[in-house]
Formats: sequence, C-alpha cells, structure tokens
Amino acid sequence: MAITVADTRARDGLRPIDMSRDVPQIIELLKLVFGEALELDDQQLLGDDVGAQLSSLFYRLNPATSRLANGFVWLAEGRIVGNVTLLPTKAWDRFLVANVAVHPNYRRQGIARAMMHAVTSAVKTRGGRAILLQVVKDNHSAIDLYRSLGYVGLGHMSSWYCSTSRLRRLDSPGGDLAIDIRPLPARRWREAYTLDTACVPPDLNWPEPLRPDAYRQTLWQRLGDFMNSRLFETWAVADSRDHLVGLTTITGQWGRPHLVTLRVHPNHAGRLERPLLAKVVRRLQNLPRRNVRIDHPDDDTVANTLLAEANFAVQRTLTHMRLDLSR
Ligand SMILES: CC(C)(COP(=O)(O)OP(=O)(O)OC[C@H]1O[C@@H](n2cnc3c(N)ncnc32)[C@H](O)[C@@H]1OP(=O)(O)O)[C@@H](O)C(=O)NCCC(=O)NCCS
Repeated sequence: MAITVADTRARDGLRPIDMSRDVPQIIELLKLVFGEALELDDQQLLGDDVGAQLSSLFYRLNPATSRLANGFVWLAEGRIVGNVTLLPTKAWDRFLVANVAVHPNYRRQGIARAMMHAVTSAVKTRGGRAILLQVVKDNHSAIDLYRSLGYVGLGHMSSWYCSTSRLRRLDSPGGDLAIDIRPLPARRWREAYTLDTACVPPDLNWPEPLRPDAYRQTLWQRLGDFMNSRLFETWAVADSRDHLVGLTTITGQWGRPHLVTLRVHPNHAGRLERPLLAKVVRRLQNLPRRNVRIDHPDDDTVANTLLAEANFAVQRTLTHMRLDLSR
C-alpha cells in the first residue's frame, strides 16, 4: 500500500493568519520569544492557560486571543516560526502592529522584514494612513528593522510601578498651601483635555489617542463609577489668570492597579510636579492597597526624579514609532 506523506514544505513561507488553526502555535511562539515580558501586558492578551493544549475552538472563542486574528505568519517545515499581529483602532486609517516575533533558529533570514512588508501592503490596501508600534527602548535590532522600513520614533514612555503600601511621602516646599490644588471643576473638562494633549502628544497614548471627553464626568458616569466602586479623581492647578496649568488623575478599578497621570504645562515645568505628586501620594495612601502604575514620558527628568523619590520604579520603557503612509 502506498503511503503518502504530506509535503509540509510546500506550504512554507508567508501567509495571512488563519484563526481556525494558527492560534496555539502563535501563542507557543510568543511565549518562547517574549517569555516573562508577555506577562507585563496588562491587557492580558494570552491569559494563564497558554501552556495548556486547548482546542482551536477555545482560542477562537476567547476574546483575548481574538486580538491575534489579523496579521501574518511565516511557516518553516510546516511550523509557525514568525508572527506579526495587525490591530485596527477606532480611527479607520490608523493601525497598530504588535507581537513581531521570529523563532530564534530562523532569525537574520529576512522573515521579519517580509512580514512587516506584508503588513504595510495590507494597510495600504485598506486605505490606512498610519501604522504605529511600541518597542522596548533598548531593543536595537527591532528598532533598526523598523527604521529601515521608514518608521520614525515619536518618543518614549516609561511605566512606573509601586504598591500603595511602599509609597514614600514627598515634602512640598512651603507646605500644602503654597500651591492651590483643587478637584477639577466638572465644567472644565475641555481645558483639561487641551492641557493633557499639550503635555503628551496623542500618538504617545496607547493604543488610542486620548479621547476629547476623557475628563468629562457626566452624572451617569459618576453614578456608574459609584455603583461599580470605580474611582476617577482629577486634581488641578490654575495660574493667576485661572488657566489650567497642572493636572493629576487617579483612576481605580477593582482588581487592577491604580492608574495615575501627571500633566504640567511646559511653561510651568519644574514648579508643579512636586506638589501635584505629593498630593497624589497622600491620596493613594488613603485608598485600598494596590499597585500603582504611572505611564509618563521618559524624557521628563523632573518627574522621573520625583517618582524615584516616592519609591516608584521603572518596569519598562517603550519607544513609540510611526510609519506615515499618507505621503
Ligand atoms: C526583531 C526580530 C523580529 C527580527 O527578526 P528577523 O527575522 O531576524 O529580522 P530580519 O532578518 O528580517 O532582519 C531585518 C533587519 O532587522 C535588523 N536586525 C534584525 N536582527 C538584528 C540583530 N540581531 N542585530 C542587529 N540588527 C538586526 C537589521 O536591520 C535587519 O536587516 P539586515 O539583515 O539587512 O541587516 C527578531 O530578532 C525577534 O523575534 N526578536 C525578539 C522579539 C522582538 O524583539 N520583537 C520586536 C518587538 S517590538
């Protein structure tokens, strides 16, 4: 009896992701390539069952893995050895690239470059005008790859962490009354948005730019927050002409780290960071014990020094890059 052996090599090379069969192998590859770094992703892309031999159906029905649905894989000897995920955003012409990974045994053969070219073509076909990605700041090989494809750096964001129980209070020179920090009046949400975007460029917000109504707290939202034990506090500083010049927010949700932001208008840099951060630390020490996370531009040396003083530590710094397809 003749035995036929499938020629796996015939299917090797580049092809779009096929969710019905690829996901377990993609996850295996991402685990191998990124290891612990995957766990840093607070979007819990892969969950805890990654190592288990679960069916493709499970992966297809799992909302976390459905984020892997678009993109390209590279096959060698019938196995997936390369992956790039392409994610849409709320803006029809703006796409994100994630999970760029090539198996260590297959690197420096042009696989990542070929997958990235495929991504660019796919986005162009859909009329997309920009592709954004994040890469660890010292990942020079990946940054070289992206630069060679036309991506430009937009800046770096550091993620700082500390648990509320380990926070150190910051002294405010002149005492608490030296700078008047008040809750943001509800009607000033547009000004808060303007100040925020003057401090952090939209493309440094990941995965979406800041929503224009991000600081708006309708009555329904407040009610919803109250019912769901969510917290959203904004503390603001105005100058002598009553223009908003400094902001800090604390967002809290059950089971998640408290998220903090710090925004100081460039004209007031160096003067407001300490009192605002001192205020946040005092507030956090009165909130339920959790981790606190603050994502902040890496080049803000004033804030960096203060965050370290308050006992925060950088967990990772990501470079944001953008490929502009509109030209
Ligand atoms: C980064 C990575 C995806 C590159 O994959 P690859 O298939 O080896 O890359 P390619 O062979 O297509 O190389 C393309 C270009 O990337 C750069 N590059 C890739 N590996 C490099 C290395 N080890 N050192 C320096 N440059 C490197 C070079 O510019 C290279 O072009 P060249 O070969 O003409 O010099 C792969 O090393 C990897 O999976 N790394 C771990 C995961 C990771 O860091 N992913 C990026 C997350 S944002």
